[in-house]
Amino acid sequence: VLSNPRADRIKSLRRLAKRTARAEQRLFLVEGGQAVAEALVAAARGDASVREVFLAADDGARLAHLESLATEAGVPYEYASADVVRALTDTVTPQGAVAVCEYLDRPLEEVVAGGSKLVAVAAQIRDPGNAGSLIRVADAAGADAVVLSEGSVDPYNGKVVRASVGSLFHFPIVDGVSTVATIDALRDAGLQVLAADGASEADLDSPEVAAVLARPTAWVFGNEAWGLPDEVKQAVDAVVRIPIYGRAESLNLATAAALCLYASARAQQ
Ligand SMILES: C[S@@+](CC[C@H](N)C(=O)[O-])C[C@H]1O[C@@H](n2cnc3c(N)ncnc32)[C@H](O)[C@@H]1O
Repeated sequence: VLSNPRADRIKSLRRLAKRTARAEQRLFLVEGGQAVAEALVAAARGDASVREVFLAADDGARLAHLESLATEAGVPYEYASADVVRALTDTVTPQGAVAVCEYLDRPLEEVVAGGSKLVAVAAQIRDPGNAGSLIRVADAAGADAVVLSEGSVDPYNGKVVRASVGSLFHFPIVDGVSTVATIDALRDAGLQVLAADGASEADLDSPEVAAVLARPTAWVFGNEAWGLPDEVKQAVDAVVRIPIYGRAESLNLATAAALCLYASARAQQ
């Protein structure tokens, strides 16, 4: 059992809490039994590379299934003390397992070439909870990929990883690209591009919008504070509003994304 949280190996992994260290090593940490299980299943499928897994020794019985998943995926695992697990995680009560994973991002060209039917694009999304929830709801709606534009939160930030609850491992995430270039590439690949914006004339529930929802579609969502820049609204095929029936100024980004992506998914199914 690995018991020294100050061991060089652990100290070096702790640096992955910082974006610059992650980007340099192209590694990130995944914590929690459920998310680690998803990472290992993805590794066994060849969709992710997991370098190693740490399992909390005092949680051994509960984590036994992760041993077999790691073995199936050919990933080395090691038992560690609660102190070591705590040193690697940034939650107050870590759930006993941590995986060291390689970056998952894929080039936009690869996603575009894949014949996608539903893609979510976030333009400068900043809140980690929103980004994780967006990835999770896009996965639930059956989206083929999520794109986080340049200027967005890092998808490998611990809070994003936690909020995505494993969905990060289910489909390609593209990261750090220009929103307008993404829109052009997706349109060239045959998708219509719709932007979600509360101030638009076109209503998501109108017959005009309903008539086009079944087409292959990319949805673009704006920043939490300032929404979508004009150049993005001009680059898309249509800007669509989710009707607000009460007095809320707007919807939370991930909530808006849930409504738009599910509207497309229902029409497409
Ligand atoms: C919190 S909102 C941004 C609000 C911001 N004050 C603005 O000017 O747009 C974040 C994103 O969620 C989506 N969104 C929120 N409410 C929406 C609505 N009623 N209709 C369509 N999209 C909405 C949009 O993509 C928006 O850019």
